[in-house]
Amino acid sequence: MEPAAPATSHTAAVATPSITDREFALFQALIYRESGIRLSEAKKILLARRLGGRLRELGLGSFGAYYRRLKGREGRQERTRMLDRITTNETHFFREPRQFEFLEHRLVPEWKRAAASGERARRIRVWSSACSTGEEPFSVAMVLLRYLPPGSGWSLEVLATDLSTRVLESARRAIWPIEKVREIPEVYLRSFMLRGKRSQLGWIKAGPRLRSVVSFRHQNLHDPLHAVAGPFDLVLCRNVLIYFDSRSKIAVLDHLIDQLAPAGHLFVGHAENVAGTTRELCTVIPTVYRVGQLQGGRTLPESCEHRRSAQKGSGG
Ligand SMILES: C[S@@+](CC[C@H](N)C(=O)[O-])C[C@H]1O[C@@H](n2cnc3c(N)ncnc32)[C@H](O)[C@@H]1O
Repeated sequence: MEPAAPATSHTAAVATPSITDREFALFQALIYRESGIRLSEAKKILLARRLGGRLRELGLGSFGAYYRRLKGREGRQERTRMLDRITTNETHFFREPRQFEFLEHRLVPEWKRAAASGERARRIRVWSSACSTGEEPFSVAMVLLRYLPPGSGWSLEVLATDLSTRVLESARRAIWPIEKVREIPEVYLRSFMLRGKRSQLGWIKAGPRLRSVVSFRHQNLHDPLHAVAGPFDLVLCRNVLIYFDSRSKIAVLDHLIDQLAPAGHLFVGHAENVAGTTRELCTVIPTVYRVGQLQGGRTLPESCEHRRSAQKGSGG
């Protein structure tokens, strides 16, 4: 989606240097400190490839020189750029369809029932905590708008955050290549997406109603200041925990779970789980978790008690 970066005068002149083991170790440590992302030895070539273009743009002859630039007084902005290049941003609309079925057929009806009986306000807050180019938060927003329309008194808020400023900019524009229509069920496509015409041909764009529900913010999940505050009814942290080591993953999970409302839900990716968290969670279906305390003071289901005691000895 991003236009290719224009070649600078350095591009032709300087070939990408190879990265030494020592340089790789320095980058590994820096990236871990900055983002919680743990790069294994196997990622050495990938790292060199992803950062090689930046070295060429800057006319730098070695990864050591680039490292010194990153650590220098002016390095902060460059560190953001570097993280932009090393993050993996693959995403889709309605990714992990079982979670969207769960949202439509279980969660939304539960929220509606609770609101009708006066147990909760007609207000839903969702946090898409590694939103990439926006497909995830906009998918959730489409479901919310369809079933909980503001015209019926619902107030909807989807906060979309990511470490990468590049993907956030793209998400904010809310424009995607037309091929993306394949990922969006017809009913949502017709109601919420606009097809580009003339100069916009080949693109789709989120309509104004959809855009009004989603807001964006730069947020590093690994940042101990953790500026985003709940309570949220639903937090999505999908396909990002896999990049963290166990320590970072548990710290991130504990913080996210602390931002959930009572009976709030957490969605993680299909290859992820919440092992090691010190917080009380029930598994509702695989990859969907709910805060331990159920609404109305009912006792925890057997599966929750079980999971909790199993966790105590696991230590992560
Ligand atoms: C593979 S994408 C997943 C996007 C979306 N959640 C999904 O499942 O389709 C991973 C995203 O996590 C973001 N990310 C990586 N480390 C992060 C961190 N420390 N804090 C916030 N976002 C991070 C990346 O920038 C990237 O956009």
